[in-house]
Amino acid sequence: MKARKIEDNIYWMGSVDWDARLFDSLIPLPDGTSYNAYLIRGSEKTMLIDTVEPSVIHELMAQLESVEKVDYIVCLHAEQDHSGGIPQVLLRYPDAKVVVTPKAKGILMDLMTIPESAFMVVKDGEAICLGDKNVEFIHTPWVHWPETMVAYLRENKILFSCDFFGSHLATTDLYGVDEGRIYEAAKRYYAEIMMPFRSIIKKNLEKLKPYSIETIAPSHGPIHPKPAIIMEAHDQWVNSPPKNLVVLPYVSMHSSTQKMVHHLIASLVEKGVSVEPFNLTVTDIGKLAIALVDAATIVVGTPTVLAGPHPNVVYAACLANALRPKAKFLSIIGSYGWGGKTVETLAGMISNLKVEIIEPQLIKGTPSVSDFKALDGLAETIALKHKENGFI
Ligand code: FEO
Repeated sequence: MKARKIEDNIYWMGSVDWDARLFDSLIPLPDGTSYNAYLIRGSEKTMLIDTVEPSVIHELMAQLESVEKVDYIVCLHAEQDHSGGIPQVLLRYPDAKVVVTPKAKGILMDLMTIPESAFMVVKDGEAICLGDKNVEFIHTPWVHWPETMVAYLRENKILFSCDFFGSHLATTDLYGVDEGRIYEAAKRYYAEIMMPFRSIIKKNLEKLKPYSIETIAPSHGPIHPKPAIIMEAHDQWVNSPPKNLVVLPYVSMHSSTQKMVHHLIASLVEKGVSVEPFNLTVTDIGKLAIALVDAATIVVGTPTVLAGPHPNVVYAACLANALRPKAKFLSIIGSYGWGGKTVETLAGMISNLKVEIIEPQLIKGTPSVSDFKALDGLAETIALKHKENGFI
């Protein structure tokens, strides 16, 4: 794709990847992604903001063919999907300065070969003058690495935000037009990438409030022409209390756990609690991450396999523990054949979660009438706790 004009002397560059289906060998990409770089031509100097994933650097280099000089290559974030193309861009513009936070300099020197003399470290709030345009750098650590910053083009009121406010979405639309689709993709992105750093993101959102922002140009997904929508969505994901929702990731091997899951869902619904179940043998793990943004309670359903939880459940527990959602309560349900340490194993895997454990319901074999009653009791306890905490 060719470079695309955003405003006078400001261009989108980069690559749209419709076929990508896995990011960082970990994160599902149902809608592909894009790697956005931006070119700002000032009356005196030219600045490139971010580069692209190394495998598509040829696309950026082709877009830069008509650009004689780049004075600054800004690295807002050192992860390779944005920084990986810097060495090649530097080869074409050997006099360019690589503009970074102090932490980013160290990380880039660890990750790739860039001569130390090429770096220009900027302080929080420092600006670079391009002649008729001034770009201010705002340090926003932990979105989602420790070195991250954003860039604010004062004259045009454009915030270049890199991963912050991004979405994995491949589209020919330069600007987000389908707000529902953007919201879903951005929430997935927040859930998978940003949620563990919620408390610091809260501070970064506050830090951006004094800026008059008319456009947000992230480094993944379409540009936001109405920044209030995406900023308010982030504010809500970060700050709002959990919702009256149980997220129920589960696996069943011989239907006993499934019967328990179905009974618990019905019982919770009867008591006014919403449930999102995820059968982990078929689920898109990103959808589970999205649900975890809002859930007040997590109930894990698992059979006992080789004396412990099912491996897919282990994976989901590891993921939830890493994502640190704001859920307040957790329980475990499931069936075993003759014994095991399912509860102990799972409990040991969720140390990051600040949850109250509601008594697990592990049963032997297929569920009996009294087991279903115990599940009704679990549903009753969950509904009560949601009510006591104002989630209902
Ligand atoms: Fe898009 Fe954290 O890299």
